[in-house]
Amino acid sequence: MLASNRTEGRAIRGADLSITNLYKRYGKVEAVRGIDCEIKPGEFMSLLGPSGSGKTTLLMMLAGFETATSGAITMAGRDLTHVPPNKRGIGMVFQRYALFPHLTVAQNIAFPLKMRGLAKDDIRSKVARTLAMVRLESYGDRLPQQLSGGQQQRVAVARAIVFEPPVLLMDEPLGALDKKLREDLQIEIKRLHRDLGLTIVYVTHDQEEALTLSDRIAVMNHGRIIQVGDPRSLYATPQSSFVANFLGKTNFLPGTVSATSEDSLTINVQSVMLSVPRARYMAPGNAEIGQAVEISVRPENLHVVQGGPDALHGIVEGVVFVGAYTTYTVRLPDGVRVDVQLAGRDYLAEGEAVSLRLPGELVTIFSERAE
Ligand SMILES: Nc1ncnc2c1ncn2[C@@H]1O[C@H](COP(=O)(O)OP(=O)(O)O)[C@@H](O)[C@H]1O
Ligand SMILES: [Mg+2]
Repeated sequence: MLASNRTEGRAIRGADLSITNLYKRYGKVEAVRGIDCEIKPGEFMSLLGPSGSGKTTLLMMLAGFETATSGAITMAGRDLTHVPPNKRGIGMVFQRYALFPHLTVAQNIAFPLKMRGLAKDDIRSKVARTLAMVRLESYGDRLPQQLSGGQQQRVAVARAIVFEPPVLLMDEPLGALDKKLREDLQIEIKRLHRDLGLTIVYVTHDQEEALTLSDRIAVMNHGRIIQVGDPRSLYATPQSSFVANFLGKTNFLPGTVSATSEDSLTINVQSVMLSVPRARYMAPGNAEIGQAVEISVRPENLHVVQGGPDALHGIVEGVVFVGAYTTYTVRLPDGVRVDVQLAGRDYLAEGEAVSLRLPGELVTIFSERAE
């Protein structure tokens, strides 16, 4: 058991995880291809990526249900390679509820404590305390089938944390729930993380969920981590068109490098000469004059302006009202379409001519667009 230390009233009992050059092959399939990652004690780390990117495989190796083909995992400095799942002291929540159907809620939660041979009284008090943590105080005697999906998943969380693990792994735990319930449970999970101070590795393919919950996000694709960062920096500074496109929404506009200087590039986009800081250039190599690039710009970073030589001119083709904002699809003269997100009331009409300002300091430049 790890020593817990208290800072500012918050118990930190999370352990760090260190993943080194980790591979997993299933015959010819390389599910995980060389992952290196350091997860800090008490950190909320999300693994975000499309289906098939290797998230579950990585999590299963952390849990010990899968053996790595090569590479190493350590927890609080201890090599986990030959440690079986039940000896790792790691909690796990799966997407499907995976409760024992014939056991009551309290018996389900007591299960890991019984396995560890705790005394009856101890079990009773820990189960009661954990039921309260997941706000199911009065549900201990029910069977899983008598609970809603969201309640069942709370029981699964309770069962995973009742033995006070330093690390909790969650594989798309809210994937089967509807949006409103998912948002409620996201808040609950965040609160538990804050109150318990454990390390959480959270798998999701839902970028909003990752942005909402995480201290840091590791974006995965094809068995690799392609960028790690806190939500804001990942969103503002994606280093590849894949990340720009997968995390949030973005527009791609073709352009050509027309001038270069030490700190900035001039890009010809739809005949507008756009000055872009060098730091926003993510394509490989040095920018060369005449080089074709793709400019990525977020819908909320395009602004409607009165006109002028620095503006893109287009026609509003579509209007989608989403409540807090409206998304307009604008068709530019050469047929390229961009989405523009404007807060507040609906004030552009379909067919209307608009001028848009491209903010050079907020775009990112790639060599190709993401599919
Ligand atoms: N037991 C297995 N046998 C063979 N291939 C597998 C197995 N588990 C996963 N894979 C393959 O490994 C890749 C990664 O899968 P997975 O880790 O489940 O991705 P994710 O959780 O990101 O959707 C996929 O191509 C998948 O088909
Ligand atoms: Mg998966």
